[in-house]
Amino acid sequence: MSVFTLIKGKRGKSGFGYASTSADVVADLDLSGKNIIVTGANAGLGLESASQMASKGAHIFALCRTMEKASAACETIGNGATPVACELSDPASIRAAVATLKAQDVKFDVILCNAGIASTPELDQQNGIEATFFTNHVGHFMLATGLLDSLSDTGRVVVVASMIHAQSYEGGINFDDLSGEAGYNANKAYGHSKLANVLFAKELARRFEGTGKMACSLHPGAIPTDIARRMAPGAANAANTIFKLFCKNVGQGAATQTYAAVHPDAANHNGAYFRDSNLATPSEDAQDVDLGIKLWEETQKIADRL
Ligand SMILES: NC(=O)c1ccc[n+]([C@@H]2O[C@H](COP(=O)([O-])OP(=O)(O)OC[C@H]3O[C@@H](n4cnc5c(N)ncnc54)[C@H](OP(=O)(O)O)[C@@H]3O)[C@@H](O)[C@H]2O)c1
Repeated sequence: MSVFTLIKGKRGKSGFGYASTSADVVADLDLSGKNIIVTGANAGLGLESASQMASKGAHIFALCRTMEKASAACETIGNGATPVACELSDPASIRAAVATLKAQDVKFDVILCNAGIASTPELDQQNGIEATFFTNHVGHFMLATGLLDSLSDTGRVVVVASMIHAQSYEGGINFDDLSGEAGYNANKAYGHSKLANVLFAKELARRFEGTGKMACSLHPGAIPTDIARRMAPGAANAANTIFKLFCKNVGQGAATQTYAAVHPDAANHNGAYFRDSNLATPSEDAQDVDLGIKLWEETQKIADRL
């Protein structure tokens, strides 16, 4: 048996590990009565985790770029899932989604911020902000903070980040160049957005302290989804080769976010960063409380002017 096979088969304290699937995570759970928002619910990890949670009785609010995609996703997810249009690069669309969700008059048990894009080879912007940072971080910030009043007393906000958060720009967050115009680098731009994901979850968790609510982030693994589609062909090919050699399948990739969203044990870990459905340690920058506070304040300013 190879070392790699041994690592893959290992389980951590949670009882789950690298090879566990989202189906394994929900196997013993009854999620009836849970209202769960999933962004990017039409593809990859979002569709898989939404489908598994719905199979155990959760009501999924499937957020996708268009109503057409959301309705098609709901057919696959099942259990009467509710389609909601939410284009995370468009503030008007995010605000409309928040209004639609608030009008449901339910308390949400989970907001699973799953949607994400990789960075393009050349600078791309949304609303004057580098596009990866806007979609992955600012869009989710606007959605989740817009819905905090509608979170249940034990509600969770789960942000799908990446281990690549450790490969951001020097100093962590480029507050002086959020437009990306001064020094764009595609690899670092993705890491930058994912560091923002971890810092946002940490700062939200700090604000949740003393309540029954929790926020956390995670690395799902390397999984052959469509995530590499915006990358340069060379980089995408390299990523796909790595995915094929070392990757998890989609069921395994969706396990950690499913664990963070609905497993009872995860509720005890406000502020955690998970990997392979177990506690892990993010980068030093990701643990910098002052950086998280500054990111929250600067992101709020961006949201307020849009
Ligand atoms: N796959 C990996 O190896 C890996 C590794 C580390 C972290 N992650 C993270 O895991 C998460 C899920 O990614 P995935 O691997 O499942 O990728 P995927 O198959 O490409 O799915 C991404 C989802 O995000 C949606 N999305 C993208 N841009 C959006 C926007 N502007 N507004 C609303 N929705 C948008 C996509 O919608 P459309 O289909 O309409 O584009 C799709 O539903 C991402 O946050 C990603 O960064 C993935």
